[in-house]
Amino acid sequence: MSERSLLIVALAAGKGTRMKSAVPKVLHQVGGRSLLGHVLSAASAAGADKLAVVVGPGMEAVGVEAGRFVPGAATFVQERQLGTGDAVLAARAAIESHRGDVLVVLGDTPFLTTETLVKARRALAGDAGIAVVGFEARDPTGYGRLLQDGDGSILAIREEKEATDAERSIRLCNSGVIGFRSERMFEILSAIRNDNAKGEYYLTDAIEIGRSKGVRAVAVLGDETEMLGINDRAQLAAAERIFQDRRRADFMADGVTMIAPETVYVAYDTVIGRDVVIEPFVVLGPGVSIADNVHVKSFTYLVGKDAKSDKGIVLGDESEIGPFTRMRPGTTVGEGAHVGNFVELKNSTLGPGAKASHLAYLGDGRVGAKANIGAGTIFCNYDGYNKHVTEIGEGAFVGSNTSLVAPVRIGAGAYVGSGSVITRDVGPDALALERAKQEERPDWARKFRQVMARRKSAKS
Ligand code: UD1
Ligand code: MG
Repeated sequence: MSERSLLIVALAAGKGTRMKSAVPKVLHQVGGRSLLGHVLSAASAAGADKLAVVVGPGMEAVGVEAGRFVPGAATFVQERQLGTGDAVLAARAAIESHRGDVLVVLGDTPFLTTETLVKARRALAGDAGIAVVGFEARDPTGYGRLLQDGDGSILAIREEKEATDAERSIRLCNSGVIGFRSERMFEILSAIRNDNAKGEYYLTDAIEIGRSKGVRAVAVLGDETEMLGINDRAQLAAAERIFQDRRRADFMADGVTMIAPETVYVAYDTVIGRDVVIEPFVVLGPGVSIADNVHVKSFTYLVGKDAKSDKGIVLGDESEIGPFTRMRPGTTVGEGAHVGNFVELKNSTLGPGAKASHLAYLGDGRVGAKANIGAGTIFCNYDGYNKHVTEIGEGAFVGSNTSLVAPVRIGAGAYVGSGSVITRDVGPDALALERAKQEERPDWARKFRQVMARRKSAKS
């Protein structure tokens, strides 16, 4: 890879009016990650040393998101949207102080690949001062067209509005990703004028201006799907479809069985091992890692990272999950453990071979190896102010319909009788019972029926 330092300038000032959203467009998600996050992770894999994000007024959240991918990312506000050329100049301070390559990317193109960015950098390492990422568009309408000369240079990018009919028939289009060597960049950008049909400062004018100053521009090619930009919710859904299809295909190629892949949802960071079987209708949100030989049954819903926690979910070898299991962040399931229907786990660890087969809430718990959690068990972890831990020792047996009021510990090998409300620790191998003594009144029911029947007939 190039030794030259890389600055990425990501344009994200667009309000995305067609999204009809209070959330900036680039923060909408595909595969559980923001559009901007997809772009920036490709950019940082391409070796970005510095990042400048150009946002609109009031879009601080975009800067925060950018900082997650490139620590120290700088945010620049473009006060009014006067065009892409003006947008890049909003990041003037970052550009002027940078020596090396600068890649301008658009924040709403989630499928942009690292390979394409690397290609643009390679072109800049040669004799080109500008590298434009182009693609062959099936339908070029609306895109800027690349005008080439015979020797592989680009003469200009012509925007649709200014193009002649002949130019409009060109299918080689500008993706919006343009790389510059920093040396002449600022000088070139400063020369851009807004004397065009839209009255905008076109970044694309940089090609002709550069040429007039002896700076050569070349095109590198990417794939059309890479350039897909999101402008409305239908395009967002279309992008999600593309993302899911690709990821599922990758998993299947790597040895995962999906019985009905079109019904399984995965996230950008999902990890799935070999010989895992995933039944229909399973949702794997962000932060889920599945070892080998795991069986995930239908209607399982696992989210390992959310707004409050990024602790993740790990499913151990040969574990069995579902149907209808829910897991939240911080869940670890040991080897060969079973979690069944209507069981919810949050911030809890199940030891190897442990079982929670039906109807339970395990929050902030540590369950030892081979322990058995009966149906209807609740770890009462929250007192309205704080969360507390429930510990279940190895091989312990918690009877059905038990409430364990945390903080509380059940010793290894202990039994807890069904229906108990356990508030104090239980020693190893003990039996704990917390329920009223059973009473029996012989013949009571028969007499009750006689009395009631007599009363009813006296009334009528
Ligand atoms: C732009 C390119 C065009 C290319 C196309 C690819 C220019 C002049 N044209 O056209 O050659 O084929 O992208 O999709 O560059 N933005 C700002 N501030 C502004 C204007 C735009 O941040 O003042 C951002 C937008 O949020 C958007 C991006 O820049 O993410 C591109 O702007 P847009 O107006 O969509 O340009 P296009 O007309 O699509
Ligand atoms: Mg556009």
